[in-house]
Parts: sequence; structure tokens; C-alpha cells
Amino acid sequence: MAAADVWSKIKIQQGDITKLAADAIVNAANSRLAGGGGVDGAIHRAAGIEQLQAACRKLGGCETGDAKITPGFNLPAQHIIHTVGPVFGGGQRGEAELLASCYRRSLEVAAENHLKTIAFPAISTGVYGYPFEAATEIALRTTAEFLVEHELIEQVTFVFFGRVDFESASAIIERLSPARDNS
Ligand code: APR
Repeated sequence: MAAADVWSKIKIQQGDITKLAADAIVNAANSRLAGGGGVDGAIHRAAGIEQLQAACRKLGGCETGDAKITPGFNLPAQHIIHTVGPVFGGGQRGEAELLASCYRRSLEVAAENHLKTIAFPAISTGVYGYPFEAATEIALRTTAEFLVEHELIEQVTFVFFGRVDFESASAIIERLSPARDNS
């Protein structure tokens, strides 16, 4: 697929990712897949803590930059793809490549499972401290590159919890993508 065309498959929106009925939503997890605060906590609560933790225990953890899949249980989404973002430590410890890997591996897991729609939160930009603009640019560029080679994925949605983040992401996607029809 031509690079310019993939941007029509990339959407951004403000809201709570646990409400999205995508084939998969991505969780910003920790390496133990033990649940936590932020979006991890929200997803575990909405999916059903006991059944999701039981499923996560079978996965044996997850490396930073990798991604693993579970059912979505009580979520409107069919699946959850758990990925572990890097903790930002200044930018000189490979954080950018590890963050890009989170998006790439999550998309690979979606493609391997023949999923067509996937939604991401802003991985690593909360507790893990990754600067929001840099992280969002990595997320968008990595996703656009992946979609050029993987046409079966029909839509990737980036869900931003806060309005400020959503407005910042809107400006970034405007800058990165060819003239967009924002309908
Ligand atoms: N829907 C969408 N986005 C959300 C939601 C939600 N319901 N709740 C929080 N967010 C956003 C935050 O505003 C932030 O922009 O998700 C982004 C990621 O923030 P965190 O959840 O703190 O994730 P991260 O920075 O990757 O840190 C992961 O935090 O919760 C623990 O167990 C988790 O150890 C792991 C660490």
C-alpha cells in the first residue's frame, strides 16, 4: 500500500480505551503483566480482574518492547494486546527503539491473529515518563511504516484520555500525514 494511503487508516480520538469495541485494544502493561494503575488498571477492572489476571499468569510475563495477547473478557474489545513500554531515562538508553518496538510487535500480534481493528493508548507517556510529543511521533511513524506492508489491518485508532493530549496529538498527525480529510 502506498505510504500516503496508509494515513487514511490511522485515526485519533479522545476517550477511555476500555469503551472501544475494536478487535483488540492495547494495554500499557508492566513486565510482570500483573496489572497496575493508569490504563493497565482501567483495562483490568473493565475486563474482569480475576479472569484477566488468570490469563496473564499463563503468559509468563512480557519483555519491554514485546507484546502478548489475551481475550478481552468483559471488555467490548475481543482481545487485549499487552505491551510493555520503556521507562524514560533521558533518551540515551534505547528508549525510542523500545517504544517503536511496542507498536510494531503489537501490530504484528494483531496481524498474526488476523485482527482488522486495533486501538492504542499513549504507551509510556504516563507513569513511565516518556515525553508525550516524542512518543506520539514514534507511535504514528512506526504504525504508518507497518501498514505499508500489512494491508489486512483496516484501522488503527490512537485513544487519548485527556483533551490536552488529544489536541497535541491532533497537531502532530496533521504535521506527519499528507493533507488529511478530518471528517
Ligand atoms: N483510556 C485511554 N488512555 C488512558 C486511560 C484510559 N482509560 N487511562 C490512562 N490513560 C493514558 C494516560 O493518560 C497516559 O497518557 O494512558 C497513557 C499511559 O499512561 P500509563 O497508564 O501510566 O502507562 P505507562 O506510562 O506506559 O506506565 C505503565 O503503569 O499502570 C502501570 O502497570 C503499569 O507499570 C505499568 C506502568
